[in-house]
Amino acid sequence: MSKPSASVSRSAPAFRPLDLIRKKRDGGELSSDEIGFLVRAYTDDEIPDYQMAAWLMAIVIRGMSRPELSALTSAMLRSGEVLDLSDIPGAKIDKHSTGGVGDKTSLIIAPIVAAAGVTVPMISGRGLGHTGGTLDKLQSIPGFNIDLSLGEFRRVLKSCGCGLIGQTAEIAPADKKLYALRDVTATVESPNLICASIMSKKLAEGIDGLVLDVKTGSGAFMKTEKDSVHLAELMVETGERMGQKMVALITDMDQPLGLKVGNALEVEECIEVMNGQGPADLREVSLELAAWMLYLAGRTPSVDTGRQLADELIRNRSALKKFREIVVQQGGDPGTIDDPKRLPQAQHRIPMLSPASGFVEAIQCEQVGIASLVLGGGREKKEDTIDPAVGLVLHKKVGEPVQKGEPFCTVHYNSDARLSSAQSLLQQAYRIAEKPRVVRRQLIHRVISGKGAQA
Ligand code: URA
Repeated sequence: MSKPSASVSRSAPAFRPLDLIRKKRDGGELSSDEIGFLVRAYTDDEIPDYQMAAWLMAIVIRGMSRPELSALTSAMLRSGEVLDLSDIPGAKIDKHSTGGVGDKTSLIIAPIVAAAGVTVPMISGRGLGHTGGTLDKLQSIPGFNIDLSLGEFRRVLKSCGCGLIGQTAEIAPADKKLYALRDVTATVESPNLICASIMSKKLAEGIDGLVLDVKTGSGAFMKTEKDSVHLAELMVETGERMGQKMVALITDMDQPLGLKVGNALEVEECIEVMNGQGPADLREVSLELAAWMLYLAGRTPSVDTGRQLADELIRNRSALKKFREIVVQQGGDPGTIDDPKRLPQAQHRIPMLSPASGFVEAIQCEQVGIASLVLGGGREKKEDTIDPAVGLVLHKKVGEPVQKGEPFCTVHYNSDARLSSAQSLLQQAYRIAEKPRVVRRQLIHRVISGKGAQA
């Protein structure tokens, strides 16, 4: 917890956090100095969590103007270092997702794109709310070190073209603190806060272009396409203003992506995809995002040829080989790639049986994410530790037939106490209808590209 203080006088101009919270609460517009002050003072532990949480909640409710959003993004970016990767030849491209359930594409895309010779400096986040985080997934690989210093990150990038780390103390430290606070104060679902959080980290990476995967649907922070498009536009605009090639894909999150939800289980599923197997939806979204990265990097002349190259790099196992290199470079056990059973395994498994025969009409995706979280796969409080082994394996997805008594998913768990709440969430999450009346949603809803990234 940060140190409490009523007013702060260290830097000029000094503002009273209380006044700034009140101003936002009442719908006022903060100046860039005021926003800069709050971000700097919170990062330096001069403002307590409770005041920052109140300010964040005022933003969730009142929103932000574009100048406020710019000020917040650049204050968060300036809270740390901006990497200079100009000594590494070629384009540096990253992708970032706004977060979903079973959303594990980073672990597939980063190796594909690096295998094509494009540098991918990926600074990722932990699970947030009901969504999983790349870092938590990676840490389920025994030994995998996501806390590389910037010097080590640079070495890994030079040696294998890709590194996957968390925010170091040097990179956007304001976001690191704010992200953890938002996670436990119901202040995640704000397009402005999500935009500033993502863009401050990404702009610090020293990249030339960024592909955004903006999720939409019941498992996304933005539940409607309209809200997702708004967030995508905010981020594309913010990135372009800062000189990046930007594209955002609005992708479906109305049901989990793939079949596995939970940290080690998701790593296992990524290995399946890189072995040329795995679920078609996960493979399709991964290939599409990778294709855009290859195109933004100038590695392929079009998105179509990018998709073909990405597909080829999976087929000929180059992506898997690259993933192994990354794991080795970052201290992880490469044996898990040949034998995913070496990943953490839950002690117990129990199938969830369908109460009726019919068709899966809908899966309340957020409930599935929360079920994984309550099993121990995510955090309810900042201090919580993750259980990498727990999670869910879905046997039925939207539109599929199911018989009464047939398992629609299997729960992997380590604690009986946690199991029962997960089970009731999952019972509620699945809606079974007598007749198939589902209109299939597209996986890729829309593409919003900046001026520098027209296909
Ligand atoms: N991902 C982030 O990095 N930040 C958010 O606020 C939401 C998703």
